[in-house]
Amino acid sequence: MEIRTRGEACGKVILFGEHFVVHGVPAIAAGISNKTTVEVEPSSEMLFIPGNQRTIPELTYRSINNVLSAMGIKGNFKVTLGGDLPTAGGLGSSAAFCVALAIAFAKQAGLTLSKEQINNFAYEGEKAFHGNPSGIDNVLATYGGVMTYTRGTTSKENKFEPLRTVGRFYLTVGITGKSSPTVAMVSKVGDFKKTKPDEFAELAKKAEKIVSEAEDSLFSGNMERLGALMNENELLLEALGVVSAENIKIINSARGAGALGAKITGGGGGGCCIAIAKDKTHAEQILVAIRKEGFDGFITTVG
Ligand code: MEV
Repeated sequence: MEIRTRGEACGKVILFGEHFVVHGVPAIAAGISNKTTVEVEPSSEMLFIPGNQRTIPELTYRSINNVLSAMGIKGNFKVTLGGDLPTAGGLGSSAAFCVALAIAFAKQAGLTLSKEQINNFAYEGEKAFHGNPSGIDNVLATYGGVMTYTRGTTSKENKFEPLRTVGRFYLTVGITGKSSPTVAMVSKVGDFKKTKPDEFAELAKKAEKIVSEAEDSLFSGNMERLGALMNENELLLEALGVVSAENIKIINSARGAGALGAKITGGGGGGCCIAIAKDKTHAEQILVAIRKEGFDGFITTVG
Protein backbone atom coordinates (compact mmCIF):
# COMPACT_ATOMS: atom_id res chain seq x y z
CA MET A 1 0.00 0.00 0.00
CA GLU A 2 1.22 3.50 -0.82
CA ILE A 3 2.15 5.65 2.18
CA ARG A 4 1.16 8.92 0.57
CA THR A 5 -1.84 8.99 -1.75
CA ARG A 6 -3.31 11.75 -3.87
CA GLY A 7 -6.68 12.80 -5.18
CA GLU A 8 -7.75 15.67 -7.37
CA ALA A 9 -11.01 17.21 -8.54
CA CYS A 10 -12.12 20.19 -10.57
CA GLY A 11 -13.93 23.34 -9.50
CA LYS A 12 -17.14 24.53 -11.09
CA VAL A 13 -19.08 27.57 -12.10
CA ILE A 14 -22.84 27.72 -11.82
CA LEU A 15 -23.99 29.19 -15.14
CA PHE A 16 -27.66 29.42 -14.18
CA GLY A 17 -29.86 28.69 -11.18
CA GLU A 18 -27.75 28.86 -8.00
CA HIS A 19 -29.73 29.20 -4.77
CA PHE A 20 -32.98 28.23 -6.52
CA VAL A 21 -31.39 24.79 -7.00
CA VAL A 22 -31.35 24.30 -3.22
CA HIS A 23 -35.17 24.53 -3.40
CA GLY A 24 -35.66 22.04 -6.24
CA VAL A 25 -35.34 24.26 -9.34
CA PRO A 26 -32.96 22.86 -12.01
CA ALA A 27 -29.59 24.58 -12.45
CA ILE A 28 -26.82 24.43 -15.04
CA ALA A 29 -23.19 24.15 -13.94
CA ALA A 30 -19.89 23.44 -15.63
CA GLY A 31 -16.61 21.97 -14.44
CA ILE A 32 -13.62 24.31 -14.90
CA SER A 33 -9.98 23.50 -15.48
CA ASN A 34 -8.82 24.76 -12.05
CA LYS A 35 -8.33 21.89 -9.63
CA THR A 36 -8.01 21.07 -5.95
CA THR A 37 -5.46 18.42 -5.03
CA VAL A 38 -5.24 16.55 -1.75
CA GLU A 39 -2.38 14.43 -0.41
CA VAL A 40 -3.07 12.05 2.41
CA GLU A 41 -0.71 10.01 4.60
CA PRO A 42 -1.11 8.13 7.88
CA SER A 43 -0.20 10.23 10.92
CA SER A 44 -0.20 9.96 14.72
CA GLU A 45 -2.88 12.67 14.88
CA MET A 46 -5.34 14.25 12.49
CA LEU A 47 -3.55 17.12 10.73
CA PHE A 48 -4.79 19.50 8.04
CA ILE A 49 -2.21 21.58 6.12
CA PRO A 50 -3.95 24.32 4.09
CA GLY A 51 -0.87 25.45 2.10
CA ASN A 52 -1.36 29.03 0.98
CA GLN A 53 -5.16 28.79 0.73
CA ARG A 54 -7.70 30.47 2.99
CA THR A 55 -9.64 27.77 4.85
CA ILE A 56 -11.84 27.30 7.90
CA PRO A 57 -9.96 24.55 9.81
CA GLU A 58 -12.86 23.64 12.12
CA LEU A 59 -15.17 22.90 9.17
CA THR A 60 -12.39 21.23 7.22
CA TYR A 61 -11.63 18.78 10.07
CA ARG A 62 -15.33 18.05 10.35
CA SER A 63 -15.57 17.34 6.62
CA ILE A 64 -12.51 15.03 6.75
CA ASN A 65 -14.17 13.10 9.59
CA ASN A 66 -17.48 12.96 7.70
CA VAL A 67 -15.80 11.51 4.60
CA LEU A 68 -13.76 8.99 6.64
CA SER A 69 -16.76 7.77 8.61
CA ALA A 70 -18.93 7.53 5.45
CA MET A 71 -16.17 5.40 3.91
CA GLY A 72 -15.77 3.31 7.07
CA ILE A 73 -12.05 4.15 7.34
CA LYS A 74 -10.45 4.44 10.77
CA GLY A 75 -7.19 6.12 11.83
CA ASN A 76 -5.50 9.51 11.73
CA PHE A 77 -4.12 11.19 8.64
CA LYS A 78 -2.15 14.20 7.55
CA VAL A 79 -4.15 15.92 4.81
CA THR A 80 -2.37 18.50 2.61
CA LEU A 81 -4.35 20.83 0.36
CA GLY A 82 -2.97 22.02 -2.98
CA GLY A 83 -3.96 22.90 -6.53
CA ASP A 84 -4.91 26.11 -8.31
CA LEU A 85 -8.59 26.42 -7.41
CA PRO A 86 -9.16 29.46 -5.18
CA THR A 87 -11.03 28.62 -1.98
CA ALA A 88 -13.96 30.47 -0.42
CA GLY A 89 -15.03 31.94 -3.73
CA GLY A 90 -18.13 30.11 -4.94
CA LEU A 91 -16.05 27.96 -7.31
CA GLY A 92 -16.90 24.68 -5.61
CA SER A 93 -13.60 24.36 -3.73
CA SER A 94 -15.13 22.64 -0.69
CA ALA A 95 -16.79 20.02 -2.91
CA ALA A 96 -13.61 19.56 -4.96
CA PHE A 97 -11.73 19.08 -1.66
CA CYS A 98 -14.22 16.40 -0.53
CA VAL A 99 -14.08 14.54 -3.85
CA ALA A 100 -10.27 14.66 -3.87
CA LEU A 101 -10.30 13.41 -0.25
CA ALA A 102 -12.54 10.45 -1.07
CA ILE A 103 -10.22 9.48 -3.96
CA ALA A 104 -7.07 9.78 -1.81
CA PHE A 105 -8.61 7.90 1.15
CA ALA A 106 -9.85 5.13 -1.17
CA LYS A 107 -6.23 4.62 -2.28
CA GLN A 108 -5.13 4.49 1.38
CA ALA A 109 -7.69 1.74 2.05
CA GLY A 110 -7.06 -0.10 -1.24
CA LEU A 111 -10.67 0.51 -2.36
CA THR A 112 -11.80 0.89 -5.95
CA LEU A 113 -14.72 3.28 -5.97
CA SER A 114 -17.26 4.08 -8.66
CA LYS A 115 -17.91 7.76 -9.46
CA GLU A 116 -21.29 7.36 -7.79
CA GLN A 117 -19.64 6.21 -4.56
CA ILE A 118 -17.10 9.05 -4.69
CA ASN A 119 -19.91 11.55 -5.21
CA ASN A 120 -21.91 10.12 -2.28
CA PHE A 121 -18.93 10.13 0.12
CA ALA A 122 -18.03 13.69 -0.94
CA TYR A 123 -21.61 14.82 -0.32
CA GLU A 124 -21.24 13.75 3.33
CA GLY A 125 -18.10 15.91 3.57
CA GLU A 126 -19.86 18.86 1.91
CA LYS A 127 -22.50 18.83 4.64
CA ALA A 128 -19.83 20.01 7.10
CA PHE A 129 -19.31 23.15 5.02
CA HIS A 130 -22.84 23.94 3.91
CA GLY A 131 -25.42 22.38 6.17
CA ASN A 132 -27.94 22.20 3.31
CA PRO A 133 -25.99 21.64 0.07
CA SER A 134 -28.04 20.92 -3.04
CA GLY A 135 -25.35 18.44 -4.13
CA ILE A 136 -24.61 20.26 -7.41
CA ASP A 137 -21.01 21.15 -6.46
CA ASN A 138 -19.93 17.60 -5.63
CA VAL A 139 -21.59 16.25 -8.79
CA LEU A 140 -19.57 18.69 -10.92
CA ALA A 141 -16.37 18.00 -8.96
CA THR A 142 -16.90 14.25 -9.51
CA TYR A 143 -18.03 14.16 -13.14
CA GLY A 144 -16.97 17.52 -14.67
CA GLY A 145 -18.50 18.59 -17.99
CA VAL A 146 -21.65 20.69 -18.31
CA MET A 147 -24.69 19.42 -16.40
CA THR A 148 -28.27 20.21 -15.64
CA TYR A 149 -28.82 19.29 -12.00
CA THR A 150 -32.09 18.92 -10.11
CA ARG A 151 -32.24 18.26 -6.40
CA GLY A 152 -34.80 15.63 -5.37
CA THR A 153 -36.66 15.42 -2.07
CA THR A 154 -34.08 12.85 -0.93
CA SER A 155 -30.46 12.69 -2.10
CA LYS A 156 -31.27 9.42 -3.93
CA GLU A 157 -33.69 11.42 -6.08
CA ASN A 158 -31.10 14.04 -7.12
CA LYS A 159 -30.82 13.99 -10.91
CA PHE A 160 -28.11 15.20 -13.23
CA GLU A 161 -27.74 15.02 -16.93
CA PRO A 162 -24.79 15.99 -19.15
CA LEU A 163 -25.73 18.86 -21.47
CA ARG A 164 -24.69 19.05 -25.10
CA THR A 165 -23.10 22.36 -26.00
CA VAL A 166 -22.02 23.61 -29.39
CA GLY A 167 -18.26 23.93 -29.09
CA ARG A 168 -16.39 25.67 -26.32
CA PHE A 169 -16.90 29.16 -25.05
CA TYR A 170 -14.84 31.48 -22.91
CA LEU A 171 -15.75 32.81 -19.49
CA THR A 172 -13.93 35.46 -17.53
CA VAL A 173 -14.08 34.84 -13.79
CA GLY A 174 -13.79 37.91 -11.56
CA ILE A 175 -12.76 37.37 -7.95
CA THR A 176 -14.06 39.86 -5.37
CA GLY A 177 -11.54 38.68 -2.75
CA LYS A 178 -14.36 38.78 -0.22
CA SER A 179 -14.95 35.34 1.32
CA SER A 180 -18.24 33.95 0.16
CA PRO A 181 -20.02 32.44 3.16
CA THR A 182 -22.25 30.05 1.20
CA VAL A 183 -23.86 28.72 4.34
CA ALA A 184 -24.97 32.25 5.37
CA MET A 185 -26.18 33.07 1.86
CA VAL A 186 -28.16 29.82 1.61
CA SER A 187 -29.78 30.54 4.97
CA LYS A 188 -30.56 34.13 3.92
CA VAL A 189 -32.42 32.79 0.89
CA GLY A 190 -34.18 30.26 3.15
CA ASP A 191 -35.42 33.17 5.28
CA PHE A 192 -36.54 35.06 2.16
CA LYS A 193 -38.57 32.02 1.10
CA LYS A 194 -40.14 31.73 4.56
CA THR A 195 -41.06 35.39 4.92
CA LYS A 196 -42.04 36.07 1.29
CA PRO A 197 -43.23 32.72 -0.10
CA ASP A 198 -45.21 34.20 -3.01
CA GLU A 199 -42.37 36.47 -4.12
CA PHE A 200 -39.95 33.55 -3.87
CA ALA A 201 -42.25 31.29 -5.91
CA GLU A 202 -42.48 33.97 -8.60
CA LEU A 203 -38.67 34.32 -8.78
CA ALA A 204 -38.23 30.53 -8.79
CA LYS A 205 -40.65 30.23 -11.71
CA LYS A 206 -38.61 32.77 -13.66
CA ALA A 207 -35.37 30.95 -12.77
CA GLU A 208 -36.79 27.68 -14.08
CA LYS A 209 -37.74 29.31 -17.38
CA ILE A 210 -34.27 30.85 -17.72
CA VAL A 211 -32.61 27.46 -17.15
CA SER A 212 -34.79 25.78 -19.74
CA GLU A 213 -34.08 28.51 -22.33
CA ALA A 214 -30.38 28.41 -21.48
CA GLU A 215 -30.32 24.66 -22.23
CA ASP A 216 -31.68 25.44 -25.71
CA SER A 217 -29.18 28.28 -26.24
CA LEU A 218 -26.26 26.09 -25.17
CA PHE A 219 -27.46 23.37 -27.51
CA SER A 220 -27.84 25.73 -30.49
CA GLY A 221 -24.79 27.85 -29.66
CA ASN A 222 -26.78 31.08 -29.39
CA MET A 223 -24.28 32.94 -27.23
CA GLU A 224 -26.02 36.32 -27.47
CA ARG A 225 -29.18 34.81 -26.02
CA LEU A 226 -27.18 32.91 -23.42
CA GLY A 227 -25.61 36.18 -22.28
CA ALA A 228 -28.99 37.93 -22.09
CA LEU A 229 -30.32 35.03 -19.99
CA MET A 230 -27.33 35.39 -17.69
CA ASN A 231 -28.20 39.04 -17.13
CA GLU A 232 -31.83 38.07 -16.39
CA ASN A 233 -30.62 35.46 -13.91
CA GLU A 234 -28.48 38.09 -12.20
CA LEU A 235 -31.58 40.26 -11.61
CA LEU A 236 -33.27 37.36 -9.80
CA LEU A 237 -30.20 36.90 -7.59
CA GLU A 238 -30.18 40.62 -6.82
CA ALA A 239 -33.85 40.34 -5.83
CA LEU A 240 -32.87 37.52 -3.43
CA GLY A 241 -30.28 39.82 -1.80
CA VAL A 242 -27.19 37.67 -2.42
CA VAL A 243 -25.25 40.14 -4.58
CA SER A 244 -22.66 42.37 -2.87
CA ALA A 245 -21.36 45.81 -3.90
CA GLU A 246 -18.09 44.14 -5.04
CA ASN A 247 -20.04 41.71 -7.21
CA ILE A 248 -21.87 44.62 -8.84
CA LYS A 249 -18.59 46.43 -9.60
CA ILE A 250 -17.18 43.36 -11.36
CA ILE A 251 -20.41 42.70 -13.26
CA ASN A 252 -20.63 46.31 -14.44
CA SER A 253 -17.02 46.43 -15.56
CA ALA A 254 -17.45 43.14 -17.48
CA ARG A 255 -20.58 44.45 -19.17
CA GLY A 256 -18.79 47.73 -19.90
CA ALA A 257 -16.15 45.69 -21.73
CA GLY A 258 -18.86 44.16 -23.90
CA ALA A 259 -19.47 40.87 -22.03
CA LEU A 260 -22.48 39.08 -23.54
CA GLY A 261 -23.76 38.58 -20.00
CA ALA A 262 -22.49 38.59 -16.43
CA LYS A 263 -23.65 37.42 -13.02
CA ILE A 264 -22.46 36.11 -9.68
CA THR A 265 -21.65 32.41 -9.59
CA GLY A 266 -22.32 30.24 -6.56
CA GLY A 267 -23.35 31.59 -3.19
CA GLY A 268 -22.68 35.30 -3.85
CA GLY A 269 -22.23 37.88 -1.10
CA GLY A 270 -18.72 38.30 -2.55
CA GLY A 271 -16.96 35.25 -3.99
CA CYS A 272 -16.79 35.24 -7.77
CA CYS A 273 -18.62 36.53 -10.83
CA ILE A 274 -18.65 35.13 -14.37
CA ALA A 275 -18.92 36.91 -17.69
CA ILE A 276 -19.47 35.34 -21.13
CA ALA A 277 -16.99 36.53 -23.74
CA LYS A 278 -17.25 36.38 -27.54
CA ASP A 279 -13.83 34.68 -27.85
CA LYS A 280 -10.50 34.32 -26.06
CA THR A 281 -9.24 37.81 -26.93
CA HIS A 282 -12.49 39.31 -25.71
CA ALA A 283 -12.24 37.27 -22.47
CA GLU A 284 -8.80 38.82 -21.93
CA GLN A 285 -10.19 42.31 -22.55
CA ILE A 286 -12.90 41.69 -19.96
CA LEU A 287 -10.25 40.53 -17.51
CA VAL A 288 -8.28 43.75 -18.09
CA ALA A 289 -11.45 45.79 -17.36
CA ILE A 290 -12.06 43.83 -14.14
CA ARG A 291 -8.44 44.33 -13.07
CA LYS A 292 -8.77 48.09 -13.70
CA GLU A 293 -11.52 48.04 -11.05
CA GLY A 294 -8.99 46.54 -8.64
CA PHE A 295 -10.09 42.88 -8.72
CA ASP A 296 -8.27 39.77 -9.85
CA GLY A 297 -9.61 37.05 -12.08
CA PHE A 298 -8.86 34.40 -14.66
CA ILE A 299 -10.15 32.96 -17.91
CA THR A 300 -11.65 29.52 -18.23
CA THR A 301 -13.43 27.54 -20.94
CA VAL A 302 -16.73 25.68 -20.84
CA GLY A 303 -17.97 22.92 -23.13
C1 MEV B 1 -23.11 26.92 -4.22
O1 MEV B 1 -22.08 26.67 -5.16
C2 MEV B 1 -24.42 26.97 -4.91
C3 MEV B 1 -25.64 27.22 -4.02
O2 MEV B 1 -26.77 27.05 -4.87
C4 MEV B 1 -25.69 26.26 -2.85
C5 MEV B 1 -25.94 24.81 -3.25
O3 MEV B 1 -26.46 24.54 -4.33
O4 MEV B 1 -25.64 23.94 -2.42
C6 MEV B 1 -25.67 28.64 -3.50
